[in-house]
Amino acid sequence: MKIEFQETTKDLAKRIDIHTKFGARDIDRWMLDLIDLEADSIILDVGCGSGKQCFSYDDRLKGHADITGGDVSEELLQQARDEDARRKSQMKFVYLDFNKPFEFPDDHFDFVSCCFAIYYAENVPFTISEMHRITRTGGRLFTTGPMPENKKIFYDIIKEATHKPIPPMPGSSRYASEFLSTIKSHYSKVDVHIFENPLTFESVEPYIDYTRASMSEDRKLWSSFFQSKDDFEKIISAITEVAKRKLDQDGKLVMTKVVGGFLATK
Ligand SMILES: C[S@@+](CC[C@H](N)C(=O)[O-])C[C@H]1O[C@@H](n2cnc3c(N)ncnc32)[C@H](O)[C@@H]1O
Repeated sequence: MKIEFQETTKDLAKRIDIHTKFGARDIDRWMLDLIDLEADSIILDVGCGSGKQCFSYDDRLKGHADITGGDVSEELLQQARDEDARRKSQMKFVYLDFNKPFEFPDDHFDFVSCCFAIYYAENVPFTISEMHRITRTGGRLFTTGPMPENKKIFYDIIKEATHKPIPPMPGSSRYASEFLSTIKSHYSKVDVHIFENPLTFESVEPYIDYTRASMSEDRKLWSSFFQSKDDFEKIISAITEVAKRKLDQDGKLVMTKVVGGFLATK
């Protein structure tokens, strides 16, 4: 599956900000408690973006770890490096395309993670086997991604506003099935953990900001819905009307993120 994807700095930052402001729960805390990192671990975060997970690992381990973040976006890597320099945390942020062989030796890392990114992989067995190869025996892989029931209201509103079926999303359509079964086939033990985070919107504007950031980030996937900026704006105004109507009816819009955390041991 060829996936044309390019996260834009602005869209990623917007969505992270909306999760923080409107979500009831903190995914970083859930994840850190679950993975229970050991001090002095050698860690790789694949698809690190602007470094959110790397910084949370570093905070939790108070700098006692060797942490590398890898991503294809030079723009996001630069943001991570700038933040790293500001914090003087001395992490490494390197170019890494998970569709190509990883430039790391076998059995090297104690812990490899890939948060909200792995489902953009084009060849699932290849990417998982590279992650497995560079992890030491007894080391762990942790991935997060959307489960099929993720953000139901978001897709319901788009369907109602456009009268079109939702195109298959590389995340929610493959993560709990193809990715989970491939991880199970490579690792000796895999545990599935579910995180639910309701985001409550009492006005329509932040909900629409989220919709804009989400659809424009994944614009290639929504190409049957819009091509030009004008089409995009038309769809956004139809979505705004439906969202306003629902909000008037119920007094709020609640969009629940349903995330699967797969923790695998080599
Ligand atoms: C939704 S963002 C998540 C970023 C970060 N893990 C977070 O949670 O904030 C998805 C990330 O996957 C990265 N990505 C997409 N395709 C990739 C590839 N082929 N190799 C490595 N990273 C990739 C994007 O550049 C982006 O930073």
